[in-house]
Amino acid sequence: MYITVEPSVLHSGQITVPGDKSISHRALILGAIADGQTRIRGFLNAEDCMATMEALRDLGVPIEQRTETAVLVEGGGPSGLGQPTGPLDMGNSGTAMRLFAGLLAAQTFDSKLVGDASLNQRPMNRVIKPLTDMGAKIYSADGWPPLEIKGGQELSGILFRPDVASAQVKSAVLLAGLYANGETSIVESAITRDHTERMLRAMGAELNVGERQIIMPGKQTLQGIDIEIPGDLSSAAFIILAALVTRDCELVIQKVGVNATRTGGLDILRDMGANIGVDNVRLLGEEPVADITVRSSELNGIHVERHRVSTAIDEFPMLFVAAACAKGKTTFSGIGELRVKESDRIAVMSEGLQRLGVKVEESEEGAIVHGGSPLSGGKVDSHGDHRVAMAFAVAGTVATYPVRINNADGVATSFPGFVDCLKNLGISIASHEEDSTS
Ligand code: S3P
Repeated sequence: MYITVEPSVLHSGQITVPGDKSISHRALILGAIADGQTRIRGFLNAEDCMATMEALRDLGVPIEQRTETAVLVEGGGPSGLGQPTGPLDMGNSGTAMRLFAGLLAAQTFDSKLVGDASLNQRPMNRVIKPLTDMGAKIYSADGWPPLEIKGGQELSGILFRPDVASAQVKSAVLLAGLYANGETSIVESAITRDHTERMLRAMGAELNVGERQIIMPGKQTLQGIDIEIPGDLSSAAFIILAALVTRDCELVIQKVGVNATRTGGLDILRDMGANIGVDNVRLLGEEPVADITVRSSELNGIHVERHRVSTAIDEFPMLFVAAACAKGKTTFSGIGELRVKESDRIAVMSEGLQRLGVKVEESEEGAIVHGGSPLSGGKVDSHGDHRVAMAFAVAGTVATYPVRINNADGVATSFPGFVDCLKNLGISIASHEEDSTS
């Protein structure tokens, strides 16, 4: 599939975005091992979360999708999962593979996790190592998927100091820790999203969360709950950028998650000069949500340093395009982790921006984007990465000539209605089902 975008102006208006991907995965997984029903509203009906839903069904969990966004999970308690008849397919989802690794390491049966070509390029030693330290047996080819997990191991809590800032790894260890003997402690060197901790607490788990430290006793049982999932800030990010770089627009995005472990991208945009208001902050269950108002703004280049990366981790494709539209130079440092996302996002964003006439200097751990000149048009390749495709679609709205984004099927991974959302706001955008390689 490919997407074409013609230069066009985004209208003012009010919208909502689909549910949060991270929270949707967690609601399914934790609901599956809780006692009783978990009713989810605002579920993200996108490919990544459907991979998690199908895998849980393969593990014997009854899950009823009542509407696109309303899901009922019949939790069977900590020992309610059963041996699957074949490999569990995680699709494109790193979150699914890493969280399931933690969950399945603690089960009585063997299992195997597989994924697509992009997921096969994503490092798994970061979960294999701590889970092995807890007593798990996980086999892989040098730390790359697929993962074969041997069941029936007795796990013990550990003190874990992760080398990489990763909520996926933290969550995998917490899931295994729920089944372990003794306490699991995690001391993080950087803040990562805390949706697992919040949902565990809401489901009745005992858990002590301090400044970058979590202590959780083992052998715990969760209780099913009702969960309403906020709009995904990482999806809203693309629409926010589109509103910032267009002319005379005031756009409100309602009921978006604004958990402080996720808002680093907004802070970076504000430092670049973006006019973004976060109003009507309230709690939706355990998670803060707000209405975000964005007004078209002149952006300026800045230096984004390493310490800001973990709370903005999914926003860098969008920030690269913001940097290209900003006056002057934007320097991104310490972003090496982007090389092991759904694509090598430093390389793929640099390549695409260069095709649109932007000067980018790429280094192993960063990039310098020289912004401010009009973007040309042309063909870019998203390399199957959903966030890269959406970032370039926004770039196309302000380019001088049309932009075609090849290999854009990935958008369905996290934001299925993305093209229609921009179209409804006045952008001249279309998706085309044909082969996108030429
Ligand atoms: C996620 C955590 C992040 C993020 C991913 C979703 C999660 O990955 O990039 O899209 O749901 O835990 P890392 O925590 O590995 O950086």
